[in-house]
Amino acid sequence: MVDKTERLRQLKAEALLGGGQARIDAQHAKGKLTARERLSILVDEGSFREFDMLARHRSTKFGLEKQRPLGDGVVTGECTIHGRPVCVFAQDFTIFGGSLGEVHAEKICKVMDHAMKIGVPVIGLNDSGGARIQEGVVSLGGYADIFLRNTMASGVIPQISVVLGPCAGGAVYSPALTDFIFMVKGASYMFVTGPEVVKTVTHEEVTFEELGGADTHAGRSGVAHFAMDNEVECLLAVRKLMSYLPLSNREKPPTKPTTDTVDRVCDKLKHIIPENPNQPYDIKEVIKEIVDEHDFFEVHADYAQNLVVGFATLNGQPIGVVANQPASMAGVLDINSSIKGARFVRFCDAFGIALVVFEDVPGFLPGTDQEWRGIIRHGAKLLYAFCEATVPKVTVITRKAYGGAYDVMNSKHIRGDYNVAWPTAEIAVMGAKGAVEILYRKELDKADNKEVRTQELLDSYNEQFANPYEAAERGFIDDVIEPQNTRIELIKALTSLRNKVDTNPWKKHGNIPL
Ligand code: HXC
Repeated sequence: MVDKTERLRQLKAEALLGGGQARIDAQHAKGKLTARERLSILVDEGSFREFDMLARHRSTKFGLEKQRPLGDGVVTGECTIHGRPVCVFAQDFTIFGGSLGEVHAEKICKVMDHAMKIGVPVIGLNDSGGARIQEGVVSLGGYADIFLRNTMASGVIPQISVVLGPCAGGAVYSPALTDFIFMVKGASYMFVTGPEVVKTVTHEEVTFEELGGADTHAGRSGVAHFAMDNEVECLLAVRKLMSYLPLSNREKPPTKPTTDTVDRVCDKLKHIIPENPNQPYDIKEVIKEIVDEHDFFEVHADYAQNLVVGFATLNGQPIGVVANQPASMAGVLDINSSIKGARFVRFCDAFGIALVVFEDVPGFLPGTDQEWRGIIRHGAKLLYAFCEATVPKVTVITRKAYGGAYDVMNSKHIRGDYNVAWPTAEIAVMGAKGAVEILYRKELDKADNKEVRTQELLDSYNEQFANPYEAAERGFIDDVIEPQNTRIELIKALTSLRNKVDTNPWKKHGNIPL
């Protein structure tokens, strides 16, 4: 019996070493952690329960039968994060470069199936040379098995991908199907075809980092939601994200303990809107002033900065914030910000996270570039997302709410539950300058003093429309509130909406304008 126990212990010790000390050293030399070291940072201490530690591949091609490392290049299992259950997998680059073969894929599928069964999120730590070349089409099949599971799990359990090394070819599509992608600057990259293929096909010369590094995907393509400076910071950020999310769509989001009070007056907001309506201010200052402990966890911070999205809590209740950013492109809505906002709204709606919208939007961005690239279709994504969302939805109009953008940004008409404006709000079809030019062109052409008459008309338009009161008269907003009371009023509204029930008509699925 002692011998048999000893054999088990030896096997497990061998499994813990992955591809062996030399390859672990090589991983460290690249400034990277091993799969197990990463897990030890990500999960609560001592909580990891491993699955399939003793699995080995069964391939006999290219001499693989002589090399059958335990675990087959991926560590999978269940753990807790902040005391709540989560399923994880971490690819082990020290075994066949973390490449994905049949058994490796089976292990990932098993842990994903388990997560779906028990209703908990899946976090994948990716560091892989892609499809295991020696296993051929079986590896491709393994990827497809994972893609199908990613898709089935979408909207049922949160799925988070952390890219900590190479992620190339079709392998990028598993992270792409998940809810959030984290990358590390200088260490991780994602692309469909690498720089060599790019050079052959398009004659472009581009580095790995430029083509598919963290900054590229977090800032330019929008594929990644977070670009972190190092692995430790990255894994701690994943823990933080988890603190806002429910385990599945069957549960309510967790309540976070807070020392912030429900009756805190936000004096800073009294004078945050500049006198000149064309002058910018930072909407993130508004958000941070209102939310619990001024703690705002921004998502997609480097992408489409004219719209700010992210998580926070109000009286301990997680909220998804969507806010126009006057400090970037005057807060205008364009293609990228519409897509960014739509995806975030749909995530929050899928997982029962209340939406809080801060609106200061001059409209959609004009121009041939936007029109020819389909601002109509992409802008419609944001509209569709807000229209179909049934979670509690509240809107605060801080300043401009012009044109179609007024409708889109969670207006009352598309089922906003509590829509309020600050006294500085301007709610109209368009700004004064545009309106006066269109309405009074003929009169102004004939005017003795065009400048004076234009100013008179601008003043009159502003007097009539650059305020929230016509919308208030009609009940298009529920109230006009003083800015410093915004936190108090939002908490009251969200408390009242906590058990809100709203439904959409039965359908197989909608047809969001993709
Ligand atoms: C089998 C692989 C492998 C792979 C790496 N290895 N990739 N083994 N299949 N795909 C092995 C190497 O042979 C090596 O083994 C070890 O992993 C470490 O690799 P190195 O090359 O020494 O490491 P490094 O210099 O850091 O380079 C990493 C790399 C490179 C950039 C990932 O290995 C690479 O380019 N690999 C091939 C990538 C690729 O083209 N994959 C297919 C993509 S297409 P030893 O024994 O020496 O330690 C794809 C399709 C998916 O994935 C489709 C889904 C639908």
